[in-house]
Amino acid sequence: MNKAKHIAIIMDGNGRWAELQGKKRVKGHEEGAKVVKAITTYCSHSKEIEYLTLYAFSTENWKRPRLEVEFLMKLLDNYLKKELQTYLELNVRFEPVGDIRAFSKSLQKTIRMIEEKTAHCDGLVQYLALNYGAQDEIIRAVNKLKNIEGNITTEMLSNQLDCKHAVDLLIRTGGDHRLSNFLLWQSAYAELFFTETLWPDFTPKDLEKIIKKFTKVERRFGGLK
Ligand code: FPP
Repeated sequence: MNKAKHIAIIMDGNGRWAELQGKKRVKGHEEGAKVVKAITTYCSHSKEIEYLTLYAFSTENWKRPRLEVEFLMKLLDNYLKKELQTYLELNVRFEPVGDIRAFSKSLQKTIRMIEEKTAHCDGLVQYLALNYGAQDEIIRAVNKLKNIEGNITTEMLSNQLDCKHAVDLLIRTGGDHRLSNFLLWQSAYAELFFTETLWPDFTPKDLEKIIKKFTKVERRFGGLK
């Protein structure tokens, strides 16, 4: 049976969820933050899941209206501060992936503070993808290696990425079937699951069902069974 050691999720559908309820798009993000907590809690109780990577803000999301971007920044800052205790109680280590230098100094400070305060936690690792784009991540990794003599190996490049773990199970909510520049290197052999469910409606039960299906898939990693 397959083990879902690393689960990665593209949390899509917040805006549509809100619009369907006649609410402003940002209400969907607010609701989405609650689901982040519920799914992280669920994963922290699993013996098998070691890493949970959540796509919270992409390098392309800056193209959204200024007010929505500002709302997302504030929501993230509030979430991290408010949930520090939860991270500690659940023994979850928080780590950002992505280039957070683009964020305000105060948000960077919050991110670093939560990272430091949870550094000793040895349960689940929650990676939040923040100002993250897989192409940007790969380019930053290549640039770190550019002065090295000789050929660059797969392992050398992997070691310079923000997220160093291969993804086992990649889930996208919200009905679209695309990767949107998320963990392209790490998902080389990931099993992909797409669900119509909008992120604010996604529950630990939904995740449990997907994991169950995932455990039965035959993974060959390019070889033969
Ligand atoms: C995609 O939905 C979602 C985002 C771009 C942001 C994800 C943010 C959250 C889940 C909440 C905040 C996160 C944390 C960690 C506190 P969309 O807006 O593209 O939805 P749409 O496709 O329906 O428009």
